[in-house]
Amino acid sequence: MISLPILVSLALLPFTLAQSTDTTLQIAAIEAHFKQSQIVPSLLTSFAPDALLTVNYAGVGDITPGQLLTKEQSAPTPTVTVTPANASIQLTGAYTIAMVDADIVGSDLSKGVNRHWLINGVQITDGKVSNESATAITAYAGPGPAAGSGPHRYVIILYSQPAGFTPPPDLSEPIGVTLFDVNAYAKNSGLGPIVAATYITVEDGTATASIPATSSVVTSTLVAQTTGTKTGTTGTGTGTGTGTGTGTGAPSPSATNSAGALHGFSPITLVFAGLAIMIAL
Ligand SMILES: *[C@@H]1O[C@H](CO)[C@@H](O)[C@H](O)[C@H]1NC(C)=O
Ligand SMILES: *[C@@H]1O[C@H](CO)[C@@H](O)[C@H](O)[C@H]1NC(C)=O
Repeated sequence: MISLPILVSLALLPFTLAQSTDTTLQIAAIEAHFKQSQIVPSLLTSFAPDALLTVNYAGVGDITPGQLLTKEQSAPTPTVTVTPANASIQLTGAYTIAMVDADIVGSDLSKGVNRHWLINGVQITDGKVSNESATAITAYAGPGPAAGSGPHRYVIILYSQPAGFTPPPDLSEPIGVTLFDVNAYAKNSGLGPIVAATYITVEDGTATASIPATSSVVTSTLVAQTTGTKTGTTGTGTGTGTGTGTGTGAPSPSATNSAGALHGFSPITLVFAGLAIMIAL
């Protein structure tokens, strides 16, 4: 009754779902961290990434969003990997990677941010950001917050770099760390949108500056939010009862949740679709 390809795809379903659900949740967590740490809106007016950025420092490993590192831990150039939210996100072409010092929570960033890393023309190969045919404008310069200035937020951003990208004259050749307006740079050079981003926190000594309090991101709440309201969605299956069966599950993509974090088909929707196919056959 059920054809082999359908059986095989049903068997693979849990694995595929586990992977994409996990990535979607991690992307939702990063969005929440950016709001909680006020990177949105103080540095970025909005942030809706298509992929998860994983930054790995030798001796530390993969960082969690906002992880507190020492200057020594964050001194080496990290390796960066990108995981698309789902199979419809294609990571081909050129990208620009940047790291900027968004200072402490509550800082006035209107005079610009220190640029600690800016590489144009990086490629993504098997999810790894590679600088092999890239142009280094500002080679990676590890964080060096002033002693006692509090925990600085270093934001690592991956922009898509469309064919029309034209670097501004003052940032077309190698230059060290200087203040700049990263948003104006991205806009005027033709970069964008932001594909993925994350951040680390680096502090030297004990803060003497006063830092506004922020609430922490409770990831268990995110999980509840992203899964809790998905159950209302139903899949509708239609199948013709012939020997080979042509089942088509058509899940409604209209499900939304209060966090606005999950887009598209939920795992539950797809499971319903899978069941509908089986029932129909
Ligand atoms: C490329 O990446 C390697 C490894 O992270 C780093 O050592 C090197 O300095 C980078 N080169 C440029 C041009 O950024
Ligand atoms: C894939 O992910 C993007 C970014 O989160 C989202 O906008 C899109 O709706 C998703 N597509 C599917 C088919 O889930």
